[in-house]
Amino acid sequence: MDPTEGRGTAVDVLARMQDPESMDDPYPLYAWLREHAPVHRNPTGGVYFVSRHRDARLVMRDPAFRSATREELLARQPRIGRSRTLQNFLAGITNTNRPRHTRLRRAMAPFFTPQAVDALRLRARRWCDRLLDPLVTRLRDGESVDLHTAATAPLATHVIAEVIGVPEEDRPFLGPLVAKTMLAAHPAADDAALAEADGATLAIERYFTELAAERRRRPRADAVSALAGGPRGTGPGAGEEPLEEAELINMLWGLWMAGSESTAAAMDNAALALFRHPETAPSLGDPALLPGFVEESLRHEPPIWIAASQLLPVRDVEVAGTLIPRGAGVHVLIGSVNRDPEAFPDPDRFDPGRGAPGYLTFGEGIHRCVGAGLARMEIATFLSRLQGHLHARLPHLTPAGPPVRRRMATQRSFDSLPVALVRPPRP
Ligand code: HEM
Repeated sequence: MDPTEGRGTAVDVLARMQDPESMDDPYPLYAWLREHAPVHRNPTGGVYFVSRHRDARLVMRDPAFRSATREELLARQPRIGRSRTLQNFLAGITNTNRPRHTRLRRAMAPFFTPQAVDALRLRARRWCDRLLDPLVTRLRDGESVDLHTAATAPLATHVIAEVIGVPEEDRPFLGPLVAKTMLAAHPAADDAALAEADGATLAIERYFTELAAERRRRPRADAVSALAGGPRGTGPGAGEEPLEEAELINMLWGLWMAGSESTAAAMDNAALALFRHPETAPSLGDPALLPGFVEESLRHEPPIWIAASQLLPVRDVEVAGTLIPRGAGVHVLIGSVNRDPEAFPDPDRFDPGRGAPGYLTFGEGIHRCVGAGLARMEIATFLSRLQGHLHARLPHLTPAGPPVRRRMATQRSFDSLPVALVRPPRP
């Protein structure tokens, strides 16, 4: 694809982003947008795409923009009405505004504080070792191993399960449902795909409804017990209006999705960065250098390319010389913003030493990711164990073919990431 074909406002960025070539490598399209149409009104859909770093920060923080609500998005995109899964996404916290947003955020925030994340570190490490150890033998026996299904996806599942309070025996059932629900996010999802996604969504909802009921009867020290509450209003956010049952189930569904999918993708991306830059491997064993690698992998390949919230200006607002009329939908292209050369010199270069604060991988403003600290801890734990358990013991570990990416324009997720040992050449 030549991203410069059909210049100016005629370029249908939405369609281009769904192009298979662009899904594999969206960066030429993003570079073109930043240069030629940094605030681009799409000819279909009429939404605006913001692709430069400084403009994106502005629209995500400026109170002149608010999030489109579920009802507004349903009116604009009737396709959503056909899918329970898509409606669930829209019923979540990212599509709310103050004061409802504050109430939902206060309810979930206590489970993601730095202290809460620290308390999980040891368990995350144990899960990591339990998942990675058996791979060593398999790899030594000459097998090719799928790092995504064998390690990163189950690791993300176990960690968010520990936060929420999903018992270990239920995780093999509940974890794989996430990939099925994601079928609904494919831009060309047909009725069969939407139905399969909805089946998975319903199963997750039913599960959390039963778990919440059980925890009301026999509370434990976990998020479900606190959020479902014994006597209403004793959990986090006490003093606020308690969560309604539908809000509770949607929140648990959303946390299960957010905690699993993006974090696994971030670990997959980080592993790929390590394979592409093997000279950086020793830094993963150094606590002073590891965070730089984590940050750079998050900047360089953000798992979410387009921020979930559709922003609406509450009045006409001019951004980078383009007038965005009141009520028009605005999307921030995170994947582009993180490669803006004005914010990150030589942005396509992977440089763990760059110290790159200011990337927008976790969003910005009131919807900034509540799980960012948890995700960072998981990625760092995974990378240090990957290095310690696999890479150091098996220095000839390498991708065994191209990773299989999910076909989504909004997200960089994986179906598989095969790795194997390449024997060193005989002397
Ligand atoms: C590397 C992994 C992750 C990435 C890249 C990521 C990215 C994001 C982004 C970009 C947003 C802002 C959405 C917007 O403005 O429209 C967001 C919000 C959110 N994320 Fe994450 N996330 C990750 C991991 C997690 C985890 C582990 C959790 C916890 C289970 C989580 C829960 C949430 C929630 C609840 C919100 C909504 C916050 C609000 O609206 O106030 N995320 N995330």
